[in-house]
Amino acid sequence: MSKSKVYIETYGCQMNVADTELVMGILNNNGFQLSQDIHDADVILLNTCSIRENAEQRIYGRLDNLKPFKTKNPDLVVGILGCMAERLRTNLIEEKKLVDVVVGPDEYKRLPEFIDMAFSGGKGIGVKLSRTETYDDIIPYREDGLQAWISVMRGCDKFCTFCVVPFTRGRERSRSLESVKAEVEHLSERGFREVTLLGQNVNSYSDNGADFADLLAACAEVDPWLRVRFTTSHPQDLSDKLLYTIAKYNNLCNYIHLPVQSGSDRILKLMNRTYTVEHYLKIIESARKIIPGVSFSTDIISGFPSETWEDHLMTLDLMEQVKYDGAYMFKYSPREGTKAYRMDDDVSEEAKTKRLQEIIALQQRHSTEINESLAGTEEVVLIEGFSRKSDKFFAGRTDSNKVVIIPFVDNISEGDYALVKINRATSATLFGDFLSIVHKREQPFQLAN
Ligand code: SAH
Ligand code: SF4
Ligand code: F3S
Repeated sequence: MSKSKVYIETYGCQMNVADTELVMGILNNNGFQLSQDIHDADVILLNTCSIRENAEQRIYGRLDNLKPFKTKNPDLVVGILGCMAERLRTNLIEEKKLVDVVVGPDEYKRLPEFIDMAFSGGKGIGVKLSRTETYDDIIPYREDGLQAWISVMRGCDKFCTFCVVPFTRGRERSRSLESVKAEVEHLSERGFREVTLLGQNVNSYSDNGADFADLLAACAEVDPWLRVRFTTSHPQDLSDKLLYTIAKYNNLCNYIHLPVQSGSDRILKLMNRTYTVEHYLKIIESARKIIPGVSFSTDIISGFPSETWEDHLMTLDLMEQVKYDGAYMFKYSPREGTKAYRMDDDVSEEAKTKRLQEIIALQQRHSTEINESLAGTEEVVLIEGFSRKSDKFFAGRTDSNKVVIIPFVDNISEGDYALVKINRATSATLFGDFLSIVHKREQPFQLAN
């Protein structure tokens, strides 16, 4: 029999992107062929997200779109992976007849077996969570490129009251420092220029006495021209040691994603976020002292149960105090099984929308102000390729994670570091001119498309 072709679509956070690469590694090792063409696939997998109601609605919509594929090819296997698989389990198969395989985040090693069950006419279901699975021994399948996601821990023990992740991803566990470092070394040898270490709360990383700061330092030492980023830091456990480590290494990016969720202590308490606004602002203050020029982004939820207009104003006030470089902003979405689900979702849809719009508008203003203030400065930019709009321009990124557009210059290419003079900015983008080469990437290779 010819090799079965598998096509995968990924939804949700970077963790899912990293998991898809793990899944591709597992399938590849087990004789499956990976395909970019959905029309030609024997197996279609959706790696799904449950974080908000609309994330799941999107998947249901996609499953409806897939019906004609199954009608055309009754042998086609359709599978749901990821957080929705874990959350809804067999309900997915009962509700959606076209689903043959349901596999949660800790059972990917058995995916080939579950797909085979489906090929023989059965249903393949694997939704057990594990306290130990870290996939340390699996090499993720990655196309050549500049940037890679590396998941360094799995699960979450924080139990914020609004969040499904502890239920869909299980208990917190860390990979070994050695295996993460080996992965970074391998990527550096392949010409990658940036890695992002991933975990729901990287600050609680722990391996035989090594903490997250130790892990970051070990990764930073692999290659001075390989940028190291990380996400996400929970404000409760962010240590000064971590801040000093970021300050010490040039290639540890001066950018911290530090989700605050709300500017009201009362709401933070109801969310079980375990810090106060005062504590949060202290971290920002220390970080700015220890890491000059550090930039921050955040996540904010509008309309959590019982949020009043005053609570909302406190969130806006906190934003004014911090002035984030960027933010991911969401309307509260009740998730079954969470503690907040039992609270009265009493903020009207209208109020949630209005508050969210105000938050977005304020953030837009701050991003524009911060970016405009960079006009006239010089920034080291990692060139990522042509700009999305035109091949007369290059696009790259600063250490602080801002996109920079510069006119095409002959002697630079993807993976090089260039010194750029910034001359203008919008809320999302900086525009500048090439000044000089800071470092040329040694290994020539073709960028994957
Ligand atoms: N572990 C990360 C967050 C992962 S989820 C952290 O703690 O920072 C990403 C973001 O989605 C959260 O920070 C939160 O802002 C948002 N989110 C999670 N559950 C939500 C819900 N039920 N409704 C709306 N937004 C939610
Ligand atoms: Fe969810 Fe909170 Fe864990 Fe983040 S820290 S994944 S918001 S429970
Ligand atoms: Fe979504 Fe799961 Fe990530 S719920 S945000 S894919 S951890």
